Amino acid sequence: MIEKYILDHSQPESELLQRLTREVNIGMLHPHMLSGHIQGRLLSMIVSMMGARRVLELGTYVGYSAICMAEGLPADGKITTIDIDDEIEDIARSYIAQSEHADKIEFLVGDALQYLATCNEEFDLVFIDANKRHYIAYYEAVFDKVREGGIILADNTLWGGKVVEKVASNDYQTQGLLAFNDYLTTAPDIEYFILPLRDGITFIRKKEKGEMRNEK
Ligand SMILES: C[S@@+](CC[C@H](N)C(=O)[O-])C[C@H]1O[C@@H](n2cnc3c(N)ncnc32)[C@H](O)[C@@H]1O
Repeated sequence: MIEKYILDHSQPESELLQRLTREVNIGMLHPHMLSGHIQGRLLSMIVSMMGARRVLELGTYVGYSAICMAEGLPADGKITTIDIDDEIEDIARSYIAQSEHADKIEFLVGDALQYLATCNEEFDLVFIDANKRHYIAYYEAVFDKVREGGIILADNTLWGGKVVEKVASNDYQTQGLLAFNDYLTTAPDIEYFILPLRDGITFIRKKEKGEMRNEK
């Protein structure tokens, strides 16, 4: 009930995002992977609040969150989004192309870590939402590419509550997220917290040079 109230009193999704959500819910495996209405509005607003011009997303899925973040970019802003799964390429490309923000979205098919190994750009915002086993590797590969004062967001860091349950020895995704959440508690030069929205989103702000006095 409260969820409906929140949705009724938040800015609606565009017609395109509603159609994309319907298509995913009807015909695709793992519809829960899509960011969804409220998280999408949050991502869009973070981009515009930061005045971000350069955004990177690891894990596109069908393009929902990329389209939301593109909404928050200025006309000359750009989001690069990468996904390893070429089976979702057609649907992602089709919806990105239909978005009025298509010109701001670069969609790549490939492995996020391989891309990061060759990427020499600087980003205002990075949204980590790919393979949960590799969050520490993504973070380490991306940290030097985030500008001072920039933001890294990591999705699904509460993983349906599994982070506080007994973990099976073969549950590598939960293990990856637990390791990442612990890793941040000793990582230098950041401010961070978990926003308990949806499946948990960790906000990480890279400190600026003058702020780096409270080393852990
Ligand atoms: C949770 S979904 C992304 C959801 C999307 N960001 C959204 O919010 O609408 C995770 C995606 O990460 C992709 N992925 C998994 N491993 C990857 C890798 N090594 N490199 C790039 N993408 C990967 C999966 O194919 C999947 O589509």
